[in-house]
Amino acid sequence: MNSEFLTSATKEGEYPEADRPEVVVVGRSNVGKSSFINAFTNRKKLAYVGNTPGKTQLINFFMIDGAWYLVDVPGYGYAKLSKAQIAKLGRMMDEYFLKRKNLTCVVQLVDARHDPSKDDMEMVDFFKEMHIPIVAVATKIDKIPKTKRINHLKKISQKLQIPLAHIFAVSSTEKIGFEQVEEELQKRIEQ
Ligand code: GTP
Ligand code: MG
Repeated sequence: MNSEFLTSATKEGEYPEADRPEVVVVGRSNVGKSSFINAFTNRKKLAYVGNTPGKTQLINFFMIDGAWYLVDVPGYGYAKLSKAQIAKLGRMMDEYFLKRKNLTCVVQLVDARHDPSKDDMEMVDFFKEMHIPIVAVATKIDKIPKTKRINHLKKISQKLQIPLAHIFAVSSTEKIGFEQVEEELQKRIEQ
């Protein structure tokens, strides 16, 4: 897979031309969005990864195989940002979801260890209302013993009201689960 960083944006005027299908990776701050993008593209430092939540502050566009855009965005639910900063990021993301006409699907990341948060459920409901297709991915699956993984995924499926067969599990540190996600995204992009 070929990948390159294209540009960062805060508003519509700065987005790349909407001339290709686009997939955006969303989820709570620190859930592993940027790590997901690096593991998915098999690049070490394509997207910024940090131990402190709130690492990604801009909308970052990557070109994949010259054919589609993959997008990294700030996470939600990070309490340590100021109210003004949270509001600003919220407006930036609202504009993105309302305006971006080439958006093909969202990859909704949730932490495999925990039940989806209230914020996660609100995001999923928002995408359902907007008729934006959702690919659900549980991250950090390496942190759960193998025998317990299926139960965690079932719980996530129930909470998000997304069929278990449509929930993928990945580990960005161990590079597990990415072929399946890639296959799924290719299907959506080709539609
Ligand atoms: P923001 O940009 O702040 O919204 O965070 P993010 O969702 O982009 O998370 P990021 O990829 O920066 O990862 C946050 C932390 O989780 C880092 O310390 C990563 O190394 C760690 N991490 C991400 N994915 C995995 C995973 O699959 N397994 C494990 N064990 N750690 C992970
Ligand atoms: Mg990030």
